[in-house]
Amino acid sequence: MSLPPAPGSPCPARRLVLDPLVGDIEGEHARLRAAGPLAAVELPGGVPAWAVTRQAEARALLTDPRLVKDIGAWHAWRRGEIPADWPLIGLANHGRSMFTVDGDDHRRLRAPVQQALNSRRVAGMRARITELTRELLDALPDDGRPVDLKTAFALPLPMTVVSELMGVGPGRRAGFRALFDTFLSTRTAPAEVGANQAELTAVMRSLADARRDRPGSDLTSTLVATRESDDPFTDEEIVSTLQLMIGSGYETTVCLLVNAVVNLSAHPDQLALVRSGAVGWDAVVEETLRYSAPNSNFLIRFATEDVPVGERVLPRGDALVVSYGAIGRDERRHGPAAGDFDITRSPNRHISFGHGPHVCVGAALARLEGRVALAALYGRYPELTLAVPAERLSHRPTVTQNALSELPVLLGPATP
Ligand code: HEM
Repeated sequence: MSLPPAPGSPCPARRLVLDPLVGDIEGEHARLRAAGPLAAVELPGGVPAWAVTRQAEARALLTDPRLVKDIGAWHAWRRGEIPADWPLIGLANHGRSMFTVDGDDHRRLRAPVQQALNSRRVAGMRARITELTRELLDALPDDGRPVDLKTAFALPLPMTVVSELMGVGPGRRAGFRALFDTFLSTRTAPAEVGANQAELTAVMRSLADARRDRPGSDLTSTLVATRESDDPFTDEEIVSTLQLMIGSGYETTVCLLVNAVVNLSAHPDQLALVRSGAVGWDAVVEETLRYSAPNSNFLIRFATEDVPVGERVLPRGDALVVSYGAIGRDERRHGPAAGDFDITRSPNRHISFGHGPHVCVGAALARLEGRVALAALYGRYPELTLAVPAERLSHRPTVTQNALSELPVLLGPATP
């Protein structure tokens, strides 16, 4: 599937094609930055869009009311040029949740989630996150052979944390992983897109129904209980919010943990600094978020008017992607050493959790998980190294995540 150029869109030859197979993620981010603050891009499936690639311009656009989440503002969508089975359609149009609306509706749909994830509630999760981390480390094999740390540690930790937050029982979690992998993959065949979304919706609906019958202390029960309040969620809003929370609640945190290990392995001087106690694990988390932003390209907003960006104009009716991967190493924001992984960087004012009204609602939780997990991992396995050269690590086929397929490591001896 490939679309004809839309009126007002730049000539296809001048668009930077985002590689669906993610062969060279850092090179792609560098090309995006070099194309200026507003780069013309082509998303998988030949869909034209614009990408903001620098921090100052991104901050301005993320608080600009002329940019909206309502897919009805996308002229290509209204003209019927975006097929319903476009593999990335779920990121633009997955129903009604805080992710797809603005203004008062956004505040209403975000409020209960924000309350459940405020800093006091997240601080209360520390003991459980610590316990889960210890259990996962205890379960790692100790036969000296390579271990896929992503599957054995980086994925199950955030998956369990968000599942417990939402009240998802252990039996359902493996199924979720497969559904969300298909949801995010650029390799998903158009014929599979609708069926996968239908299954995600059915699973979320059955989760909500279970909580309606037997409420618990989880966030799903809180969302269901809004039906008795002055600001009720509709059934569709409950289902879409569940899908949003579970999907965004683990995937990006997995990237954070995996990318932190890769960065520390490539920079032993930085690992030595944190191991000596000179710098805290919080600095490793922040620098990894900046240097290897988990959301490489965030879909998607639409311009309701022409919006000048640098020397270009984002035309009314066009789609905007926020390229957090490119923005993280913006020299105008982070100086000439923006391309260095430096955990002593201070201040480290990245925007990898977004900015403005839609800023990540799970940021405090993700930061806590990162700090607890990395400190415990390197505390237990101080000599942990990659089991293959870094060049052999491959990315998952998704233009939205900076996600490795697997993370083979040698754990080395465990400390008692
Ligand atoms: C390292 C981990 C994470 C990163 C890097 C991350 C990044 C982001 C970014 C960049 C946005 C908004 C961007 C935009 O609108 O342009 C966002 C929004 C969101 N995130 Fe996260 N996130 C992470 C973890 C989490 C966790 C753990 C949860 C939930 C448990 C979560 C839930 C959400 C939700 C619900 C939104 C939508 C907020 C809204 O539209 O109002 N995220 N995240």
